[in-house]
Amino acid sequence: MVKVKLTTKVDSDILVVGLTKVNNKLQIESNGAQLESVSLLTTLNAIGATAKADEVIKLPGKNTKLVIFTGLGDGSSNFNAETLRRAAGAAARELHGNKMATFALPHKSVVELSAIAEGAALGSYTFTEFLGNTKAEQKAPLGSVSVYSKFTETAQAKAAAKRAEIIAEQTFLVRDLINTPPSHLTPDSFSQRLKKLSSKYGVKAEIITDTALKKSGFGGIIAVGQGSANPPRLLHVTYSPAKAKKRYAFVGKGITFDTGGLALKPANGMEAMKSDMSGAAAVIGAVFAIAQLKLPIAVDGWAPLAENMVSDNATRPSDVITIYGGKTVEVLNPDAEGRLVLADALVKAAEVGKKSGGLDGIIDVATLTGAQVVALGTRTSAVMTNNEEFSSQFLLAAEIAGESFWPMPLPVELRASLDSPVADLANIGDRMGGMLVAGLFLKEFIDPQTPWLHLDIAGPAYNEKNAHGYTPVGGTGIGLRSLVQLAELASSQS
Ligand code: BES
Ligand code: MN
Ligand code: ZN
Repeated sequence: MVKVKLTTKVDSDILVVGLTKVNNKLQIESNGAQLESVSLLTTLNAIGATAKADEVIKLPGKNTKLVIFTGLGDGSSNFNAETLRRAAGAAARELHGNKMATFALPHKSVVELSAIAEGAALGSYTFTEFLGNTKAEQKAPLGSVSVYSKFTETAQAKAAAKRAEIIAEQTFLVRDLINTPPSHLTPDSFSQRLKKLSSKYGVKAEIITDTALKKSGFGGIIAVGQGSANPPRLLHVTYSPAKAKKRYAFVGKGITFDTGGLALKPANGMEAMKSDMSGAAAVIGAVFAIAQLKLPIAVDGWAPLAENMVSDNATRPSDVITIYGGKTVEVLNPDAEGRLVLADALVKAAEVGKKSGGLDGIIDVATLTGAQVVALGTRTSAVMTNNEEFSSQFLLAAEIAGESFWPMPLPVELRASLDSPVADLANIGDRMGGMLVAGLFLKEFIDPQTPWLHLDIAGPAYNEKNAHGYTPVGGTGIGLRSLVQLAELASSQS
């Protein structure tokens, strides 16, 4: 866990400052923190510093042991929150193995201060659980982040520092879960681990076991999980504050490993499918964060968890299953498994939501389709909806949070491709527009009266390329910050 504090003094022996270019000249942006700038600028020019985003330069200092320059781009002294968040994160990533660093980056508001604190905290993440002692020590995350600011005394600034700690703590949890290999993360261990944590945050948790799932008719979760020696689970967490202004349900795809089942995926790249539970991790982490922030918003988190494996008991192409609530599905392709576990959980989430006074919105988060990655790449996620207003609100939240989401349609003409001659629905349809077809499949399990968002995070959930900004290699935690920000926006509405 990383600590975040505010300071008016350079209080550590590592000072992080910004570097920009104005009129083609390098300029140091230290938010007023004193440093021996003339000689440093000479050195920076001599070594050809560019001040571009993700450029991080370490120089020995006079006042501090190290001065770290992090690129802010050509901002002519006006930097948006996400630029600052990324620059802080890029510097923090270079500081693994250190105890503490002071971040003196330019900012004019508490919103920008908040972004710096968040970026620095998020960038400090490392995953060392399976490393030997020496390697783990070298990679130990920065323990404490100190943000140099003139806003230190205000209540909002203090709240921003605390919030950054919470966002980092829960994002680290999400990233840890994604990075944990399927040998060590099964539906059962996932749900147990999070149930244990939930009591710490005042969140209720219940685990529905495979036996109970079978008995109650969760045909989707059972069908996907039945080929595995690690039986499926449905994890349900609830944060229910006394005077809730709104009630949401978050539902996350929790495939702890996706082999494709009998539609076996090729070996090349299959290892990335340990990340197929990213949606489940993000929604539970978001509920924990919302609880820690004590927001006046009630949230149910649902994680349908299964391992999609190959065995004599695995679901066969052409098997017909019954989703919770009674709709039947012909499983033409066992690799389109995410929608099956989500269908069960979405119906259940709506049922439970109705009992507690109705849902103001239901949001599913899933690494659902390769088509999402083809359409939007690895850094932009998709939003599909039955309610434009809810979607706009979410896109605003995502923008503030610094997570890239883009709206995608659910064209009615694609729906017929999901027709099956033997069941209510087939689990695959047209290959073209596969991301939208998956969204249309899920829509069949949504009450049209309830505002719904489907977030396909297949690409952005897991970074297989290089680290950048505050985003490490491996699990990214995408989705969590937008969900929390959405709840914050809803809290501040009358
Ligand atoms: N988990 C995959 C989707 C995925 C692909 C996530 C790449 C992250 C990166 C999902 O279960 C899947 O296999 N989807 C199939 C659906 C198809 C069979 C209709 C796909 O996208 O190929
Ligand atoms: Mn699959
Ligand atoms: Zn999958």
